[in-house]
Amino acid sequence: MYALEELKNKIICDDNIRVLSNIPNDSIDLIITSPPYFKQRDYGYIGIGNENTVDEYINKLILVFKECKRIIKSTGSIVFNIGDKYTNGNLNLIPYRFAIEAQKIDNIRLINELTWVKINPSPRQNTKKLVPATEPFFIFTKSKDYYFDNNSFLEYKNLKNKTNTIKNSNIGQKYFNIIDNSTLSNEEKKLAYEELDKVISEVKSGKIESFRMKIRGVHALPYGGQSGGRLNQIQQKGFTIIKIYGNSMKKDIIESTVETIKGNKHPAIYPEFIVGEIIKLLTKKNSIILDPFLGSGTTCVVAKKLNRFYIGIEIFNEYVEYSLERLNKIENMDMEILV
Ligand SMILES: C[S@@+](CC[C@H](N)C(=O)[O-])C[C@H]1O[C@@H](n2cnc3c(N)ncnc32)[C@H](O)[C@@H]1O
Repeated sequence: MYALEELKNKIICDDNIRVLSNIPNDSIDLIITSPPYFKQRDYGYIGIGNENTVDEYINKLILVFKECKRIIKSTGSIVFNIGDKYTNGNLNLIPYRFAIEAQKIDNIRLINELTWVKINPSPRQNTKKLVPATEPFFIFTKSKDYYFDNNSFLEYKNLKNKTNTIKNSNIGQKYFNIIDNSTLSNEEKKLAYEELDKVISEVKSGKIESFRMKIRGVHALPYGGQSGGRLNQIQQKGFTIIKIYGNSMKKDIIESTVETIKGNKHPAIYPEFIVGEIIKLLTKKNSIILDPFLGSGTTCVVAKKLNRFYIGIEIFNEYVEYSLERLNKIENMDMEILV
């Protein structure tokens, strides 16, 4: 078994299963990785990706995933980015087949599918198919205690919302008159004023972007829903308030270009921007981040820029060398990633 200290900020050239099986239980904060696509590129005879069937490929990934589960802390998470592949014109849905198998493992929860929307996807020759332009980053955890810092994810969105506050200074005033003239009882009106005041403060403080209110006898009723739904609220308390989060809402999509690095020596690099946002979402400074399919070293590069410890595992020596080259270049750089 390795002592964790000896692995910190190291890249190991070996088969990932062999290395992972020697890392202590519950020791890593985040595993973020992108395994080779199924039969997409010939990385040589060793390594995962050139199996005969999709099932064989997924079984191998699951073996790696189980080791990942064992070594992450209960507060940690595992993020797998997997691409899809057509066989005879049929899309295999490989990422989802993998996610379904991973979910069968005890205590594993898929907490988000973060979809990468590619701004500049690779063009395709086949004009009878649309260009695939998305890829999932599946976020798994092994307990409910996982670390999750929504505020640090796409942080510029928080700032954007704060700048809305001045132009919204009159927001919601019209609803006071509407409530006044409505057929709500005095009790209901009192509650409606109170909640209206509250939601207006949320807009002014930048917590939400805007809101709408629906009042019984004034606005058309929405269709039914589960209990506690909008229709119930209107029937029971006389009104409902629909909050609009706008740009400040942290959605499960992230837009980024496909990575292009000058002098790149690896065929399948994932974007530093996305890796950085996920690292900020799921870890604190000085956390330990591991990538078992390191490739060109992107995970380690970003972890280093964001003041986290990294551990990389890559089976091909030439990619280890390239990763080290990239890491050496950031030695004296500003440690924050610019978004
Ligand atoms: C899709 S690439 C990762 C690219 C990486 N995310 C980046 O930004 O450069 C997958 C890498 O996994 C490596 N690999 C495949 N099987 C492996 C194994 N069993 N152990 C360690 N590395 C492996 C391949 O050599 C390849 O470089």
